[in-house]
Amino acid sequence: MLLRSTFASLVLFTAHGLGSSLQLPRQANTSAPIVDAELSSYIQQVFDLNNVTGASMAIILPTGEVQYATWGNSTEDGKPVASDTVFAIGSCSKGFLSASVGILMQDFADGKNTTALPSNVTDLAWSTKIQDLLPGEWKTDDPWSTEKTNLRDLLSHVTGMPSHEYSYTADESPRDIVVRMRNLRTAYELRQYWEYCNQMYITASYIVSKYSGMSYRDFVEKRIMLPLNMTSSTLHPDRANATGTMAQNWSPLGRRIPFFLPESQAELIAGAGGVISTAEDMALWVKLFLNGGVIPQTNVTIIPQTTFTLATSGIAVANSTGTELYSVPAYGMGWLRYSYRGREVVLHNGGAPGVSAWAKFYPRDGFGIVLIANTAVDTATELATFAVEDRLLGLINMTADPPLGPPVAFPSSSLPPAPPNATALPGFPGTYTNVPYGNLTICSPTISTTPACAEVVQDFKKVNAAAGTPSHPAELYAAWPRWWSSHLRLSPYAENVYIATSMNMYVNGYGDDDTPFVDPLDQWYVTFMVNDGKVEGLGFTGVADKETSRQLNFGPGGSIRDTADAWFDKL
Ligand SMILES: *[C@@H]1O[C@H](CO)[C@@H](O)[C@H](O)[C@H]1NC(C)=O
Ligand SMILES: *[C@@H]1O[C@H](CO)[C@@H](O)[C@H](O)[C@H]1NC(C)=O
Ligand SMILES: *[C@@H]1O[C@H](CO)[C@@H](O)[C@H](O)[C@H]1NC(C)=O
Ligand SMILES: *[C@@H]1O[C@H](CO)[C@@H](O)[C@H](O)[C@H]1NC(C)=O
Ligand SMILES: *[C@@H]1O[C@H](CO)[C@@H](O)[C@H](O)[C@H]1NC(C)=O
Ligand SMILES: *[C@@H]1O[C@H](CO)[C@@H](O)[C@H](O)[C@H]1NC(C)=O
Ligand SMILES: *[C@@H]1O[C@H](CO)[C@@H](O)[C@H](O)[C@H]1NC(C)=O
Ligand SMILES: *[C@@H]1O[C@H](CO)[C@@H](O)[C@H](O)[C@H]1NC(C)=O
Ligand SMILES: *[C@@H]1O[C@H](CO)[C@@H](O)[C@H](O)[C@H]1NC(C)=O
Ligand SMILES: *[C@@H]1O[C@H](CO)[C@@H](O)[C@H](O)[C@H]1NC(C)=O
Ligand SMILES: *[C@@H]1O[C@H](CO)[C@@H](O)[C@H](O)[C@H]1NC(C)=O
Ligand SMILES: *[C@@H]1O[C@H](CO)[C@@H](O)[C@H](O)[C@H]1NC(C)=O
Repeated sequence: MLLRSTFASLVLFTAHGLGSSLQLPRQANTSAPIVDAELSSYIQQVFDLNNVTGASMAIILPTGEVQYATWGNSTEDGKPVASDTVFAIGSCSKGFLSASVGILMQDFADGKNTTALPSNVTDLAWSTKIQDLLPGEWKTDDPWSTEKTNLRDLLSHVTGMPSHEYSYTADESPRDIVVRMRNLRTAYELRQYWEYCNQMYITASYIVSKYSGMSYRDFVEKRIMLPLNMTSSTLHPDRANATGTMAQNWSPLGRRIPFFLPESQAELIAGAGGVISTAEDMALWVKLFLNGGVIPQTNVTIIPQTTFTLATSGIAVANSTGTELYSVPAYGMGWLRYSYRGREVVLHNGGAPGVSAWAKFYPRDGFGIVLIANTAVDTATELATFAVEDRLLGLINMTADPPLGPPVAFPSSSLPPAPPNATALPGFPGTYTNVPYGNLTICSPTISTTPACAEVVQDFKKVNAAAGTPSHPAELYAAWPRWWSSHLRLSPYAENVYIATSMNMYVNGYGDDDTPFVDPLDQWYVTFMVNDGKVEGLGFTGVADKETSRQLNFGPGGSIRDTADAWFDKL
């Protein structure tokens, strides 16, 4: 999923938490490169197998020394990646938001605030209710979450709102996202489950801008990046591009794609995933976390102590099982915490079209790692970070330095075959509407006759032909301009049920290659509701990861209209 994180981890780590006991043993030669020729070539093989075009890594050692390693290309014309190549970091940005909210809280506590809270709100704290901070704006479809959701809930993904990632379009503001929340279906009760929701991060960034008197992006640059001397970092894509060292981006199938974050859309997604940085600058950010939120060189506190502890500690169980390598992961605020091979690690990953990033630190062992890549293949980039961490853990003898496994290719998810008798009913094509999502016009290559559908069908035929995958006659298509996507493909799955794949379509190619292609993003289910042969509407399911309150309440006999994560009436 977009701007998603896969795992979790945390720490109960006191202020300047890294004592000398956490230094590497003296026999370890920290000047020797951790990523030696053998490890570098192994990682390059993994990247080649998975079409990762370029990546930049920083390794922060307990001594404070930082080592860099790079692989592949930053641009189509073959410019190599360097430690100062500028990349978007996706959801690794979320830690900047929890830090920002904490800094704003401290401003109010210290009387340094420049705006006033609503007259009936006494202080700004992690337990402050969103309803009180955004009166008249904040509301969900659930009275209890409307009333009780607080700042900590927003940032620990426990509000009950699933990832309605395709409900918003490119021209919306953070306030628009907040105000339309009331029309989206929540999936669970407040604090019942952990489930990733970028819209809540957008809401929190709106709160920072509302009560700091400046844009969220300016706040992060002024209060975090400037004092930390992250001179090549910004949340303004135009400024990043002006450096001339910005990486270009690729799809997992090896096609160049545009940068996912145009300047005009950057304020909307800034809190959830808008930071643009370098391995060098992100090493400064990770060092700050290894030092309890205090700049090591100057002892200046950037992240207030309470916020630091809360953000990097487990608040919500992100997955109730672990594996032989990991413990159960817990999510704090913009950070996950778990143990890997018995060693605690705090981390977040970042994914967006053409972006895969990792920021990790081992609080008890005193080392950290940053990896930023210009291709969204999280499995391959994560494997590269594990290979390096295994080396570091081997150095401190907590575990044997495991041998490198064979380099692997990670297949992207493939659709189940369509049922042999799959056909689209004549009533499937048409326009469907849902208040928060807007209209969705479904087209069929065999049934639709409108000029708009003819164009959509023609475009899909072009990309299907270029990919060598002929269109299935029961497939359905839509042009669906959302913040994240341009089109939607519905692939037949069962009677009246389709698998929806959101994607960005490039009918004229992109970059040097003008052959048509698509970059697929997310998948969920679309079920048409058919009564006496009449198509009444369609429902999305699988937007929420787990069984929802609606599914439980209505039971197996519930109609898709009642149980869907989003229900669209046919017009
Ligand atoms: C440490 O590593 C550096 C760089 O590889 C090397 O020049 C030096 O000789 C090593 N020192 C020891 C004590 O092994
Ligand atoms: C990097 O660019 C060089 C020169 O254009 C090219 O030969 C090489 O295949 C590229 N590598 C990757 C990983 O794209
Ligand atoms: C700071 O916040 C307090 C509490 O809301 C308020 O009374 C005060 O006026 C604010 N200061 C400024 C300069 O707005
Ligand atoms: C403050 O007033 C708003 C209405 O303006 C109300 O919704 C909210 O519950 C009140 N909060 C408190 C803490 O009294
Ligand atoms: C800030 O970073 C720049 C390089 O980006 C470096 O030249 C400068 O010395 C740094 N300043 C401080 C105070 O560390
Ligand atoms: C970045 O700047 C170059 C010219 O300097 C321009 O061609 C390109 O479109 C810009 N990219 C973005 C994403 O704005
Ligand atoms: C890498 O890209 C090629 C060319 O598009 C594709 O055939 C291959 O499946 C991709 N590899 C992976 C692991 O996705
Ligand atoms: C930072 O604080 C530590 C411990 O309190 C102290 O030893 C050190 O000298 C301080 N460094 C600076 C630059 O003030
Ligand atoms: C939880 O973790 C297990 C083990 O890694 C994984 O198989 C499972 O898919 C995860 N569940 C969810 C809901 O992510
Ligand atoms: C740590 O591992 C190294 C290399 O395997 C070994 O030489 C050394 O004796 C080990 N040290 C301890 C304290 O186990
Ligand atoms: C397709 O065949 C399956 C069994 O083979 C049946 O359950 C299903 O209803 C059929 N679907 C249609 C649309 O005829
Ligand atoms: C949805 O489509 C209907 C019929 O074409 C139109 O009247 C309505 O304005 C559209 N709504 C939106 C939000 O575009």
